[in-house]
Amino acid sequence: MNITEIVKLRRSVRTFAEEKTLDENIINEIKDFLNTVSNPYGIKIEWFILDKKENKLSSPVIVGEKYYIAGKMKKIEHAEEAFGYEFEDIVLFLTSKNIGTTWIAGTMNRDKFHEAVALKEDEVMPCVSPIGYPAAKMSIRESLMRKGVGADKRLDFDDLFFLENFDTPLTSELKEKYKDIFELVRLAPSAVNRQPWRLVIKDDYIHLYESRNKGFIKDSWDIQKIDMGIALNHLTNGLKERGVKYSYSSIDPKIDSNELIYIISIKLE
Ligand SMILES: Cc1cc2nc3c(=O)[nH]c(=O)nc-3n(C[C@H](O)[C@H](O)[C@H](O)COP(=O)(O)O)c2cc1C
Repeated sequence: MNITEIVKLRRSVRTFAEEKTLDENIINEIKDFLNTVSNPYGIKIEWFILDKKENKLSSPVIVGEKYYIAGKMKKIEHAEEAFGYEFEDIVLFLTSKNIGTTWIAGTMNRDKFHEAVALKEDEVMPCVSPIGYPAAKMSIRESLMRKGVGADKRLDFDDLFFLENFDTPLTSELKEKYKDIFELVRLAPSAVNRQPWRLVIKDDYIHLYESRNKGFIKDSWDIQKIDMGIALNHLTNGLKERGVKYSYSSIDPKIDSNELIYIISIKLE
């Protein structure tokens, strides 16, 4: 499967097939993959596959799951984006194996997860995901939840992608050139499906900005920066697959951005 097929196939899976368990081979394959992932910030993240029963884990929105994946790291600058980027690589890998996932930051018994990963004072465990084979039918709770956040909808292309500043839409040539790659960004998952990413093309750069919503920052931790890491992941996966060479830059281009927050830039080589 190519990246576009995987991104289109992925959705949050909240109802798992009780009768079909991940066997030892696939668990080992996932463990091997967890050893290969990295992020553009070079921040170390430790990954865990956790047995639900053994660790008394639960989520009120998830049904039929037997395992979770969780990651922990030091709470340092850019931890959110790094976590978003790296966890999304895992999510996309699992999707390609027909294994369901749901990013979960809130709806879980967090204390038990912290215990299971032996979380230290200076560490954070931002999100977890159940893993397993999707059930043939969604639970009623899952269908309601999807409706509640409009999970099947995304913002329009012109609300997300701009030329040189945030007042100018892309030209039709640039739209044509970038439509497939930007569609990968558009379809990314985000907390409460808020899609905070805004991208500006200027010269040889794609600059990423965060349109932050109220209520997503707690204890100087910005969940929507995790979304930004996910968007960055989809963007760079799309570029890689098309053989486009790029590098990262953190030099703020100082584009007049009103309330938007500068995150990172991609320099197209
Ligand atoms: C950082 C982050 C945190 C999330 N937290 C939760 C959560 O606590 N509970 C939940 O049910 N879904 C959670 N989600 C899933 C989103 O609601 C979901 O990705 C979004 O509605 C889009 O739906 P889709 O993933 O099916 O495309 C989270 C997603 C992200 C990216």
